Amino acid sequence: MNDSIKKIAVFSSGGDAPGMNAAIRAVVRTAIHCGIEVYGIYRGYQGLIEGDLKKLANKDMANIIHRGGTILKTARSKDFMTTQGRREAHKILEAYDIDAMIAIGGNGTLTGAKVFIEEYGFPIVGIPGTIDNDLYGTDLTIGFDTAVNTAIEAVDRIRDTADSHNRIFFIEVMGRHAGFIALNTGIGSGASDILIPEDYETMDDLLKLVGSSKSRKKLFNLVIVAEGSKLGGINSIADHVQQHYPDREIRVAVIGHLQRGGSPTAIDRVLASRLGYGAVKAVVAGKSGIMLGLRDNSLNEVSLEDAITKKKQVEEELIELAKVLAS
Ligand code: F6P
Repeated sequence: MNDSIKKIAVFSSGGDAPGMNAAIRAVVRTAIHCGIEVYGIYRGYQGLIEGDLKKLANKDMANIIHRGGTILKTARSKDFMTTQGRREAHKILEAYDIDAMIAIGGNGTLTGAKVFIEEYGFPIVGIPGTIDNDLYGTDLTIGFDTAVNTAIEAVDRIRDTADSHNRIFFIEVMGRHAGFIALNTGIGSGASDILIPEDYETMDDLLKLVGSSKSRKKLFNLVIVAEGSKLGGINSIADHVQQHYPDREIRVAVIGHLQRGGSPTAIDRVLASRLGYGAVKAVVAGKSGIMLGLRDNSLNEVSLEDAITKKKQVEEELIELAKVLAS
């Protein structure tokens, strides 16, 4: 128990994710319940550098649990990557007498937190908030479940028109470095193939799959492509397949930022609430330099170092089963 924690700040940073508001709400209400004052930092690290802070009350958290985006706004701050920027940020924290911070975001956010702790010894606890689900030490990140549900709904719609026209659709989902969204969207929407950075599938494999679909008496219509697919950008993949199969009609759809918005699912709301509550408890217990995650449905602490540097593996079993079910 760390009685010296009287005032904390919370912020979201990097790409927003549905459920961030539920996490902010949980942080604020838990802190106030523990007798701690809470400040919201607007626009992440950039807002901290610029002194964009506001004291938050329980009533400010009303009516936000179901809203996508983040009421604290977000940014990807270039200034915080500089020593000068972090010095400014530290001055603001001193001026406001803040004792600890809770950072909600993805890899970039937690990397910034780790650097700041090393430089200033300032206590920070991280909460994984990114639709990409690519942080080590947690089975789920806030926003992932909602993003996958949104993507599946979009793919279901594309399936209708793909089916009517007997077309092949290449559909891009987010995930610059990881295939979690693509893999889960592909399995959940019954896609013909899924291209993710972690898989070994080659262009030849893809061409063979398309070519053999007739003899396999298998409809080949939907291919889910992760942004970071090793086979290249979605347009070049589609062009390549089109050149080999000029008789097939091929179209491309990019789901894009649609996946980042919308009301969070129950899974994301509950996850975010648990992580927000747990993060405040961790701060009160005097912890710092950790990210709180969920493992086997229990809260799990992992060092920021591990969270950002260790590679979270896509389940091999899912890659395998996706291929079996599409065959
Ligand atoms: O990191 C989350 C993410 O949504 C990635 O999946 C995607 O590549 C990226 O953010 C997009 O970033 P921006 O909103 O800055 O274009």
